[in-house]
Amino acid sequence: MDDKTQQALAKLPDILKKDLNQNLCMCNEVPKIDVIRAIAAGADTREKVQQITYASDGNGCCRRQVARLIECIHEDRC
Ligand code: FES
Repeated sequence: MDDKTQQALAKLPDILKKDLNQNLCMCNEVPKIDVIRAIAAGADTREKVQQITYASDGNGCCRRQVARLIECIHEDRC
């Protein structure tokens, strides 16, 4: 795991660090760690995360979860 991803994980509360290898986006089968990695690498909007990972590109049911991770990692709002 790269340094940026490690730093991003350090910002997350324990509840958001669970099940990293399970799909955060069920519709497109995108694991949570892939979403965190994209955010850590600079994606600071849900649209950017969607472009990189396809998460939230299904019926949008995981949008709030993606937004929450962005808030925690880029805006220090956890
Ligand atoms: S779970 Fe991600 S769009 Fe539905």
